[in-house]
Amino acid sequence: MKKLNIAIIGLGNIGSYLYKYLQINKKKLSKKNNCIPNVIYVSAKNKNKKRKIKINKKKWLRSYLNATKLKEVDVIVELIGGAEGAAKKLVFSALKNKKHVVTANKALIAKYGDQLAKIAEKNNVNLEFEASVCGGVPVIRSLKEGLIANKILKVHGIFNGTSNYILSSMDKQNKNFKEVLDTAKKLGYAESNSSADLNGDDVSAKLKILSSLCFNSFLNSNIHVEGINNIDKDDIENANKLGYKIKLLGYAELLNNIIYQRVHPTLIKKSSYVASIDGVLNAVIINGLPVGQSIIQGEGAGPAATTSALVSDISSILRGNIKFPFSISNKERKNLIFKDISNRSFSGYLRFEVKDKSGVLSNITSIFSTQNVSIKRLIQNPNKNKGSSSIVIITHESKDKDLNKIIKVVNNKTYVLKKPKLIRIDDN
Ligand SMILES: NC(=O)c1ccc[n+]([C@@H]2O[C@H](COP(=O)([O-])OP(=O)(O)OC[C@H]3O[C@@H](n4cnc5c(N)ncnc54)[C@H](OP(=O)(O)O)[C@@H]3O)[C@@H](O)[C@H]2O)c1
Repeated sequence: MKKLNIAIIGLGNIGSYLYKYLQINKKKLSKKNNCIPNVIYVSAKNKNKKRKIKINKKKWLRSYLNATKLKEVDVIVELIGGAEGAAKKLVFSALKNKKHVVTANKALIAKYGDQLAKIAEKNNVNLEFEASVCGGVPVIRSLKEGLIANKILKVHGIFNGTSNYILSSMDKQNKNFKEVLDTAKKLGYAESNSSADLNGDDVSAKLKILSSLCFNSFLNSNIHVEGINNIDKDDIENANKLGYKIKLLGYAELLNNIIYQRVHPTLIKKSSYVASIDGVLNAVIINGLPVGQSIIQGEGAGPAATTSALVSDISSILRGNIKFPFSISNKERKNLIFKDISNRSFSGYLRFEVKDKSGVLSNITSIFSTQNVSIKRLIQNPNKNKGSSSIVIITHESKDKDLNKIIKVVNNKTYVLKKPKLIRIDDN
């Protein structure tokens, strides 16, 4: 049977799990792919570090970059991480030296994916990155193969398990943001530095990759990004009373040949499919023609789910399935128009914490009418002891820039106690 020689570079959470998986499942994978996945080299930063797996010292490369120059290496699996430094050097050098590359590194692909794809295509080697988007959810292969017949119109969903865990735990356990984040860190659902998970950057990188695959465009950074840092218990409770849940969603949509990319907390109906996705799960919803709507849900991170995606990529290479990294040739990828969402229309949930004084409510509603934003529902919760009032206003669909203008104008008023907030509503 034919075999392909693999070098795994990076032996942390993911690399060591993958190494062990390939040891145990080598025969099974060989039979399924009619080709043997043969791990001949490994490397990481510190050879002497204690690891959970046993590795024959002969397999260690003195320098990880040697993997890109050795003739006998066919496939390099990059599991170092980060858009710059060692991971960048390794992947560029590997592709230039005609090695197939498998990576779980969304930061690298989101930043350098276009350049890397060009080199891979020129050298007729694979650049596979299923594991970089939503771990065990096989969305990239679905877009490239299973859904190849379709014109994709929209992709959206929950792409970050940490923030979904936090929002659903705040809802279910009636706890505040900080309490839930501390528990998430203890349980290993949030990293000690979880800022990219909470501020929307992680979702933004994944959305960028997905939207490029969906619309055959080059990677584009025109993305509206908001995270969940500002969501508090009161928002969750208000949403509940109004029949909604709050989720951090990523959206990429093609409307009249323009692409809109956005990441933000969203109020969605409790009865909707996305509202039922709780905990660390991810869900990707794809709308296309002729398929209609297609949904994939699963574990978004962790060594097991990520290894599932890596093995899918490795198997694709074992079968000789050489594909363009972004689904079509670079020559065919388009420079589509990406626009920000200021002129898009959404219903809004606007919350104002103000002094409980006469005239405040009428002043706020007059600002809505100046901006031509019509009010659908208004809830006022005065707190007599504190002399404050919480006003929640749900609007009819209005331009995003007008909703934001209201926030800005009200924020300058002397009766405001806290920066007002806007959460967009998705009633579809
Ligand atoms: N963890 C997840 O759930 C998850 C999910 C999806 C995707 N990913 C992606 O998978 C990749 C790996 O993540 P991870 O969680 O396994 O990270 P990790 O545990 O921090 O492991 C990183 C590995 O890279 C090695 N390394 C660091 N700097 C190096 C250098 N200069 N030269 C050679 N090796 C170097 C480290 O070596 P030492 O062991 O010697 O320190 C370590 O083995 C990242 O791109 C991440 O975004 C992770």
